[in-house]
Amino acid sequence: METRSQWGTRAGFILAAAGSAIGLGNIWRFPSVAYENGGGAFFIPYLFALLTAGIPLLIMEFTIGQKYRGSAPMAFSKMNKKAEWIGWWGALVAFVISTYYSVIIAWAISYSTFSFNLGWGEDTEGFLFNDYLQLAAPGEFGGFVPSVLIPLIIVWAVVLAILFAGVKKGIEIANRIFIPLLVVLFLFIVIYALTLPGALDGLNAFFQPDFGAIMSADVWVAAYGQIFFSLSIAFAIMIAYASYLPKKSDITNNAFIVGFGNSSFELLAGIGVFATLGFMAGQAGVGVEDVVAGGVGLAFVVFPQIINELPMLNGLVGFLFFASLVLAGFSSLISITEAYISAIIDKFKISRAKAVFFGGGLSAVISLIYATRGGLNFLDTVDYFINQFGVAFIGLVEVVVVAWFLREVKNLKEHANGISDIQLGAWWGFSLSVITPIVLGVMMVQLFVQNLL
Ligand code: PHE
Ligand code: NA
Repeated sequence: METRSQWGTRAGFILAAAGSAIGLGNIWRFPSVAYENGGGAFFIPYLFALLTAGIPLLIMEFTIGQKYRGSAPMAFSKMNKKAEWIGWWGALVAFVISTYYSVIIAWAISYSTFSFNLGWGEDTEGFLFNDYLQLAAPGEFGGFVPSVLIPLIIVWAVVLAILFAGVKKGIEIANRIFIPLLVVLFLFIVIYALTLPGALDGLNAFFQPDFGAIMSADVWVAAYGQIFFSLSIAFAIMIAYASYLPKKSDITNNAFIVGFGNSSFELLAGIGVFATLGFMAGQAGVGVEDVVAGGVGLAFVVFPQIINELPMLNGLVGFLFFASLVLAGFSSLISITEAYISAIIDKFKISRAKAVFFGGGLSAVISLIYATRGGLNFLDTVDYFINQFGVAFIGLVEVVVVAWFLREVKNLKEHANGISDIQLGAWWGFSLSVITPIVLGVMMVQLFVQNLL
């Protein structure tokens, strides 16, 4: 039997896990989510969720992967035969996410090339919907080709080539290049943004605390949702990555580095995005609240508009912004895809090459759906359901099964403490068995009531 692949270095694992965590969620999701859910006051539920759910679950997933040495379904089934489905559920959600996450990276590639001559023109919204995405209509095959198809093929070719190259020679090397580069590019953009007139107004709007907001359950839902999505928890990803750790690896310390690293990047993105929005509001003579956006609208409508108006270096700054999205996106997409590729390899005992070809190939083909007219709406809907029901729900089931049905907390804790510098105390088990299930349980009931009644 083939021995399991392994990371070459500790830094390689940390960069790969951080690369998975740091993604589009940090750049275009966190700033608007924080702003809309209490601004400066959002940091209270956010930090609470990070410390009682995010990092404890990350430690749990690292431990499960490292201890049972398997992709999520295999690791869960080694823990207990009856738990294998939890791993498959996470892998399935990862598969679905990969089909649309890849499309957004493809757009960002296109937009990075448009940056140089501000090819999106004055009406950036019209350009996105009527020119760029419209070219993707199936009937107009001539237009279909240059717009989304080529960048999408590039995205999948790069990701699948990296996964084909394997854990050490592919995933690890890619992240060792992508993540440091991303941090440098992004720091440059944020510093530039802070020099813009109006930047401070943007920051004031962002950090202005609305303490009343944290009394609302929705704000807590938003905080937990952000933490789970942002840390790539409950998608079978972190378990797969940890399964490639050597026998003696520090788990707890690594989890803290990844957790705080991801949040630092998130904070940095919030500062950069709001400094830029403050500039835009100033130019338009309106309040910051009038220009706040998130998601596709922020990245592909508002940012191009802002880039048009920058006092200097428009093309370069635009390129660097979209290049950051591409790098952040790639390192996450690699991990999302590896989550189910590794599951297929373990389950069906086939070679990595075959699993990449068939598993990755299937997601690449499915991703073409979003490259059609109506694709954006479909993307929005899928993303909404994944975020509302997928993310936190799997997280809830995962902790309840591990802590209450399988009663694994003590075992896992002994395992982690045996190989880590930082020793887990009672807070860890308490977070997993009590705090997280209660908070997530209440959230889920609320969500179902809101959406179904
Ligand atoms: N954590 C990544 C982000 O913040 C996205 C992601 C989600 C990656 C789910 C893997 C799985 O964008
Ligand atoms: Na993230």
